[in-house]
Amino acid sequence: MIIKNANVVLKGGVKKLDVRIEKGKIAELAPQIEGMGYDFSGLTLFPGLIDMHVHLREPGYERKETIESGARAAVKGGFTQICCMPNTKPVADNKVVVTYIKARAREADLCKVHPIGAITEGQNGENLAAIGAMKEAGAVALSEDGKSVVRTNLMANAMRYAADFGLKCLCHCEDKSLVDGGVVNEGYYSTLTGLKGSVRAAEDIIVAREICLAESLGLPVHICHVSTYSAVQLIREAKARGVKVTAETCPHYFALTDAAIAGFDTDTKVNPPLREERDRLAVIEGLRDGTLDCIASDHAPHHADDKNVEYDLAAFGISGLETSFALSYTYLVKSGVLTLSELAGKMSANPAAILGLTGGTVEVGAPADLTAADLGEEWTVDPAEFVSKGKNTPFKGMKVCGRVKYTVVDGKIKYEEKRA
Ligand code: DOR
Ligand code: ZN
Ligand code: ZN
Repeated sequence: MIIKNANVVLKGGVKKLDVRIEKGKIAELAPQIEGMGYDFSGLTLFPGLIDMHVHLREPGYERKETIESGARAAVKGGFTQICCMPNTKPVADNKVVVTYIKARAREADLCKVHPIGAITEGQNGENLAAIGAMKEAGAVALSEDGKSVVRTNLMANAMRYAADFGLKCLCHCEDKSLVDGGVVNEGYYSTLTGLKGSVRAAEDIIVAREICLAESLGLPVHICHVSTYSAVQLIREAKARGVKVTAETCPHYFALTDAAIAGFDTDTKVNPPLREERDRLAVIEGLRDGTLDCIASDHAPHHADDKNVEYDLAAFGISGLETSFALSYTYLVKSGVLTLSELAGKMSANPAAILGLTGGTVEVGAPADLTAADLGEEWTVDPAEFVSKGKNTPFKGMKVCGRVKYTVVDGKIKYEEKRA
């Protein structure tokens, strides 16, 4: 297979190139390659996008999403690899569930799906899960996502065990006692709506704790979905003194603020909550200066029944796989914060490097995982068009730029936009 005339996003910039793919790998990159091929004129070709933080809900919550429907949403969103969080039912805290997820992903045969194992058994915060067995079964990281590990000593042990098995802990940072039932950011909009607020410190305290542990143990740690200006600063300072900390944020933290909650739309309910303009700008600056390494969607699909209830009772989460790329392109590249190569870093090379996955760059010898997008196309987010079972998006009706046209995994086209 040959791809012709694509604007290829390389590490150092964008070049018009042809790409020859052989046996699932990139065999040649050159200005002109002889032979018949797909004409990608006008399209920008990225290294296959990687979303290191998604929820696929299977096993247990198949009404919200399945591995198949989630993988379908992933390739539609341009993702060739995704990593799924363990807060399923049963929890992915053992090799059986990890093996099951991999088998279901193989059946779906869409994108590469990497399971993330739980840190503690049943995510109950009491005993460490079977970390070695999960690694052997294919887990690529460990996380207690949905909550933090409350006992600091247990978290320290988790970091030690994880490191022994070549894994990293991906930390959802939330001090539950301080959140104390808060459902939105504490500030003007929590006062206006009467919804219970949660302070930044609830996130920052655990970010600081994980940094302290990583520093004292000399081990790596990864901070999930950074949402506060103060957490960005904690991570920036830790990196400056050599702590092995990496971090991700999500499109909703750089594209929205808590002003979006004013209409009580439960699709704006997410954990951590949407913050204020000061935070949004700090998250953008963190992405720009490299404090924040990755953009992940935290794709958290929910059934309408879990969202069509009072704000206080609604489930936390945003269905993000099908809007992540366009929001990132629109808010970060079109606005001049990041170059296309830098965006490819945040959405492909950096997550690959942090988790030790293959891929992340367009180069000869690499797997032919590629994402082709029309960056000039403007479109309106319409959850009715989502292939994810989760239609819960606060971006509905919003105009964005950049549309995924093809997603190629190991040299095979797994998604091609159907023309109307
Ligand atoms: O909004 C969220 N949804 N935050 C989390 O931490 C968990 C996730 C979920 O599983 O729905
Ligand atoms: Zn989380
Ligand atoms: Zn999550």
